[in-house]
Amino acid sequence: MLDAAERDAYLPDGAVADLLELTGAETVLDYGAGTGRISLVLAERLPNGRVVAVDESAEMIVHLAERLASVSNAEVIDINGNAVPLDDGSVDRVLALNLLHEVRSERALEEMHRLLRADGFLLVIDWNRDGPSELGPPTELRYRLQEAIAECEKAGFQVEQPPSDRFPYHFVLRAYPANRAAVT
Ligand SMILES: C[S@@+](CC[C@H](N)C(=O)[O-])C[C@H]1O[C@@H](n2cnc3c(N)ncnc32)[C@H](O)[C@@H]1O
Repeated sequence: MLDAAERDAYLPDGAVADLLELTGAETVLDYGAGTGRISLVLAERLPNGRVVAVDESAEMIVHLAERLASVSNAEVIDINGNAVPLDDGSVDRVLALNLLHEVRSERALEEMHRLLRADGFLLVIDWNRDGPSELGPPTELRYRLQEAIAECEKAGFQVEQPPSDRFPYHFVLRAYPANRAAVT
């Protein structure tokens, strides 16, 4: 289901990857990577960088390990309790794709904030509670845009909305860990 081909009609992998604005040398953390569908796309866009795919589900770790086994610039890490075994400020991008509604009341956003370099950013793409509801998780689990912004701000991020009209069901946020004026 996560890998359903029809997802490309409303959440194209390429459009998601474009929003990360990669040069090809970054370290990208795919948080809640699931089956690794987007991790694979990201690895291809990182000839001089790497993707770190983390998930808390043992089942998904099996999928990830299989899918990324032959990808030399991809690493799979099984995490628990939102503890990612990477140093503070060690990643350039974090992708939270279809994850936010699953980590409500957890400290996932704080962990992402810890991991990001000061000039990096978190890209949140998640099912919009105010969007159409025939696909995706139950409405009551979803975030409204303003609620999602408030959650990110509570974790210490400054939030912007990149222009994006590619996703009918999802909102998109870029969350910066630091005062951007101080990072030049
Ligand atoms: C809806 S799936 C999205 C998968 C992938 N990002 C995608 O869009 O194809 C959410 C994934 O996040 C994982 N997940 C949920 N909470 C998590 C957490 N606190 N830490 C790590 N992974 C988590 C789940 O196991 C699941 O694989």
